[in-house]
Amino acid sequence: MSEPQPLNESNVGAAADAALAALAQANDSTSLKLARAEHLGEQSALAGFNAAIKGLPGNQKAAAGKLVGQAKARLTQAFGAREAELSVAEETERLAAEAVDVTALPTRWNPGARHPLSLLMEQIGDIFVGMGWEIAEGPELENEWFNFDSMNFDEDHPARAMQDTFFVDPVDSHLVLRTHTSPVQTRSMLERTPPIYVVAPGKTFRTDELDATHTPVFHQVEGLAVDKGLTMAHLRGTLEHFARLMFGEEAKIRLRPNYFPFTEPSAEMDVWQPNAKGGARWVEWGGCGMINRNVLRASGIDPDVYQGFAFGMGIERTLQFRNELNDMRDMVEGDVRFSQQFGMVV
Ligand code: PHE
Repeated sequence: MSEPQPLNESNVGAAADAALAALAQANDSTSLKLARAEHLGEQSALAGFNAAIKGLPGNQKAAAGKLVGQAKARLTQAFGAREAELSVAEETERLAAEAVDVTALPTRWNPGARHPLSLLMEQIGDIFVGMGWEIAEGPELENEWFNFDSMNFDEDHPARAMQDTFFVDPVDSHLVLRTHTSPVQTRSMLERTPPIYVVAPGKTFRTDELDATHTPVFHQVEGLAVDKGLTMAHLRGTLEHFARLMFGEEAKIRLRPNYFPFTEPSAEMDVWQPNAKGGARWVEWGGCGMINRNVLRASGIDPDVYQGFAFGMGIERTLQFRNELNDMRDMVEGDVRFSQQFGMVV
């Protein structure tokens, strides 16, 4: 602090002027509070003058007291008035900033939708769980032995060739992106003891170019039943029930002889679509058959005691012909408008 000024009218006037100048400068309540502390507070010039009064000769005290008192009263009044003014202005400003326009339109967020493929896989899972089957899983990055050998593929089976299968580096890791959900058959049989009834929906991979009817990443659902005395009739009945729940009461299926290394006999399964757009038709739906004895053996199950059947179908393909979708690419491009057409349920 500077040297205390002598207590006289001109110095008190100057201190008061300085206080008023600071007051005029303060344009918010925080700086006003600081100005007030500086010019009216305990350390202020005015407080110094006030303290000096008691050192004055007796006959000067009254006049000095009046001088300082009046200056102090004037400043207190001026600061008080300014304080009130600023607090009203600040309150008004705050209310304006917090104002809510209740007539404004809300920001609309488009609701998302689950992908129809996920919904379809869930629906299929539910159908089988309803029959007392279990849901099984296996890895997408699969051991070549599970994907091919355990499924009775010959060493030189064409499906093992590079043009169908994504092999994973290094080649001697013997890992592939599973080309079908069938390796889950072996995994399920190794983990369980018969009777076994499982379905395994999941992702599968083949080196196909993406076009209207192919996608390199797709989904399948595998079905596997192992029990005593299972026959092709059980397979047929299961598939027919499945088809009715998926496509409606009037749906029926037909089996055509086919070949798979892991089933014997094997069949291609078609489903009857009486209400298809272009007229009633049979549509190829998936593969199936009685589990090959070698596959049971590879999983440690005695084929003389247990029999089994299995089936597998493509989920994309199922969705495509069930909902008459022309282009499979719509299913992988992730445009939410595609999913929204299906709503939250398929
Ligand atoms: N895994 C076969 C495929 O991908 C389908 C299938 C599964 C066939 C089970 C028979 C039994 O085409």
